[in-house]
Amino acid sequence: MVDTKVTLSGLTLDNPVIPASGTFGYGKEFAEIYDINILGSISFKGTTAEPRLGNPLPRIAECPNGMINSVGLQNPGLKAVCERELVEMAEIYKKPVIANISGFSIEEYVECAKAMDKQPQVGIIEVNVSCPNVHNGGMAYGVLPESAAEVTRAVKAVTSKPVYIKLSPNVTDIVAIAKACEEAGADGLSLINTLLGMRIDINRRKPVIANKMGGFSGPAILPVAVRMVYQVSKAVNIPVIGMGGVSTARDVIEMMMAGASAVQVGTANLVNPYACKEIIEDLPKLMEELGIEKLEDIIGIVE
Ligand code: FUM
Repeated sequence: MVDTKVTLSGLTLDNPVIPASGTFGYGKEFAEIYDINILGSISFKGTTAEPRLGNPLPRIAECPNGMINSVGLQNPGLKAVCERELVEMAEIYKKPVIANISGFSIEEYVECAKAMDKQPQVGIIEVNVSCPNVHNGGMAYGVLPESAAEVTRAVKAVTSKPVYIKLSPNVTDIVAIAKACEEAGADGLSLINTLLGMRIDINRRKPVIANKMGGFSGPAILPVAVRMVYQVSKAVNIPVIGMGGVSTARDVIEMMMAGASAVQVGTANLVNPYACKEIIEDLPKLMEELGIEKLEDIIGIVE
């Protein structure tokens, strides 16, 4: 029997498959159609200090092999997440979860991290410095090594949980930013978030999305994500969670061979709500086919 277990900062996951933040809510809808306890973990929707209604509609644009979203960090806010969503989530999912947090100031990141630090089910805090859909926050902190390091240091100072920084691909040198986060104390990195994109409705002569631009995701971005996971994982000594266009077990193996210690699945959940389940079921068969006994053995195997 093959071994699909992986470890992230001392946390052992039954398998490396984790639904990505913003594509799985708090698991409720998916728990109605399959037992979500098969998942390695869940990264739940990004939390901000205050509730957010998100960006104006339309905020989705279809693309060949992908989609653009401009959700705008819609979420019920820190209090409701801690007092309602996480309580309900604990009833349907029994493993440690990943708390994705966002902010418009260092203070907001700190406030969210402090609250997540107190949540017993949170195993990792994933700090999103890469949301392309809001102004003066999100990605603004993730495009320079200095500001990404500043957020990392501030969050690390208020939590004893492992802190993973979620990086943007919309930068010139993701390796420099990754290294700055590592030096500032990050326990791991998540990459990549979406690529800034745009579509135009040629009949209306206007952008499809009300906010004009949004984050491009889906199978089309997998090669970019694999390249960045490869470059970053070779340059740092902390675990990398790979994501970006993953929709099959083959993609999971590819990400791990590039250097990912675990893998998040995003847009695929929106196309096929069974995507993570199917990947988890396909993984052992594919491992046998490829002669892989222990999944952890292939992490970063590509020179
Ligand atoms: O707009 C959004 O809520 C997306 C967030 C993200 O890509 O990090």
